[in-house]
Amino acid sequence: MNILSSKPTRPSMWTIFSSPTLSLASAPKSLPCPSISAFSVVHTYPPPPMGSLDSAFIQEAGHRPNLKMVEGEGIPLIDLSDSPARTREELASEIGNACKKWGFFQVINHGVPLGLRRRVEELVKEFFDQPLEEKTKVKRDEVHPMGYHDSEHTKNVRDWKEVFDFFLQDPTLIPALSHPEDKSLRKLTNQWPQNPPQFRETCEEYAREVEKLAFKLLELISLSLGLPADRFNGYFKEQTSFLRFNHYPPCPQPELALGVGRHKDGGALTVLSQDSVGGLQIQRRSDGEWISISPTPDAYVINLGNAMQVWTNDLYWSAEHRVVVNTEKERFSIPFFFFPGHHVSVKPLDEITNEENPPKYKEFNWGVFFATRNRSDYKKQEVENIQIDHFKVSE
Ligand code: OGA
Ligand code: NI
Repeated sequence: MNILSSKPTRPSMWTIFSSPTLSLASAPKSLPCPSISAFSVVHTYPPPPMGSLDSAFIQEAGHRPNLKMVEGEGIPLIDLSDSPARTREELASEIGNACKKWGFFQVINHGVPLGLRRRVEELVKEFFDQPLEEKTKVKRDEVHPMGYHDSEHTKNVRDWKEVFDFFLQDPTLIPALSHPEDKSLRKLTNQWPQNPPQFRETCEEYAREVEKLAFKLLELISLSLGLPADRFNGYFKEQTSFLRFNHYPPCPQPELALGVGRHKDGGALTVLSQDSVGGLQIQRRSDGEWISISPTPDAYVINLGNAMQVWTNDLYWSAEHRVVVNTEKERFSIPFFFFPGHHVSVKPLDEITNEENPPKYKEFNWGVFFATRNRSDYKKQEVENIQIDHFKVSE
């Protein structure tokens, strides 16, 4: 068989479709520079930047990235190391201020072993560098929502990225949602590629380390609210957390597309490692300006999700963010989405609300919220995806 004349088994990002493609997901994007072997010319994506964008990637005029970002005051950089010069409460209060003002901060001396992070980064690059046929052996679908995916949509516009996801707990339980009254649960399992070797073991080890950091931050956030350190821990006993590898390839028209469209993360908090390329932008709480987050070597970017905003009755902020791509460099990032268990009912905490500060949100079940969002990852929807604003109490 002449390999050069064989067709890819499925359309790649670079195929020009006659009508917009339909599918969806929720995170960042950029692709590696492929080695131009005869094999990769036909079978891997992305090819060298060329041609015009498929219309599915094009953002509406009002949501296109401003590629010349004005650098504003940066988000706080917080040192998590134990220091005799500072009490745990003082550290917590630094974090609390960042959660209020930005909903975003970076941490250093976080305890995640650097060597392990480097090994994961190398394996992730190796995984995405493989031919599309290899990657699609662990393709996500409605039965297996974890694995490889290259056609995620955020707010119904396709993201310029490919991803690989896996749950921290295997299996993870979520509501089945087959019909409105359905109370049954689905057991979701991870899919692991054969290659690169050691991928699964290393990723699982890394996930456990990042989880420790997530709990450390959760406890500091709880203390910052004047609550016992373990106030939130019970919500994560059967967590739905997952780790994502994002690969954003170079994009021929970065002024029209986004690696990940504007969105808020869903859960309690996100612990994100990004490489040195840059591209993450967040919306400033004070005035809605988009601010670039410049990468700090070996730090983690932390941002609060919807659930934390609801628990704190809007005291703490879940900021909208997005990823801008570029024509030159692929980019990688690794978010850990720290999500509660499916059974958790999310509502403003009783300790925080009172007559002067009545609950701003109605109670909702985390599992149903998660499963509803997840379902829209596979189909372009006619309506906007479920948002916490849908649970807002009308004023
Ligand atoms: C996400 C996300 C940001 C990044 O995956 O939800 O916002 O920098 N990623 O890749
Ligand atoms: Ni995000």
